Amino acid sequence: MEIDRLKEVLKGVNNGVITEDEALVEIKKATPLELSLAEQKLLDEGVSTDELKKFCIIHLRALEDKLQEIKSSLDKGHPIHTMISEHDEILKFLNKLDSLIEPLKSGIVDEEKKTLQHIVEHLLEAEKHHEREERVLFPELEERGITGPPRIMRMEHDELRPKKKKLMELSKDPVKNKKEIIELINFLSFKLRDHIFKENNILYPAALNAIGEDIVWENIRMECDKIGYCCFTPELRMQC
Ligand SMILES: [Fe+2]
Ligand SMILES: [Fe+2]
Repeated sequence: MEIDRLKEVLKGVNNGVITEDEALVEIKKATPLELSLAEQKLLDEGVSTDELKKFCIIHLRALEDKLQEIKSSLDKGHPIHTMISEHDEILKFLNKLDSLIEPLKSGIVDEEKKTLQHIVEHLLEAEKHHEREERVLFPELEERGITGPPRIMRMEHDELRPKKKKLMELSKDPVKNKKEIIELINFLSFKLRDHIFKENNILYPAALNAIGEDIVWENIRMECDKIGYCCFTPELRMQC
């Protein structure tokens, strides 16, 4: 699909000329890699992350069926199954974060402040997920010659980490810091959705393709166990 066509779709969605369902049909014509490259180009051309966020939500929807197919072909507890489930939870946190933008603008109440802090705590807790990727999954891929995607994913983890910490700090006083908080929410909501999109639809399928030996996946699982899971990991849900 042409980048110009994708740009048209994006513009149409943002000004309401194209419905999300119509955009979905168009987006489904592109491959995950094409979508990622197109989004990067749009960002380079100055399209704001806020505008792109909507587009990102639609393209996540576009590949949802395929992803659920991959997930259901794996055993519960398979490292990729766990990581996709964790992504599902993280996406729910991002939806909640987005829903706090309006209250932040009009005057946040105590309960919403607590929700904000709670979600940010969970986003920080997701570091264990990134660590399992960086210390176990990516090295296995790199050994097999797949070096580009892991490198980009590591860079994105490094970019996301300080933003999450900053959001935590600012959330202590959401009234005073509302402008910066809204900017950070928009950034994180876009960037993390985009990151998850690339892992779910490009990196994880590549990993399943490249690593065919069950014994290697068992070893990956054991190494992941050593690092540990997030309090929100669905298969091992704890209280958090
Ligand atoms: Fe990641
Ligand atoms: Fe991930």
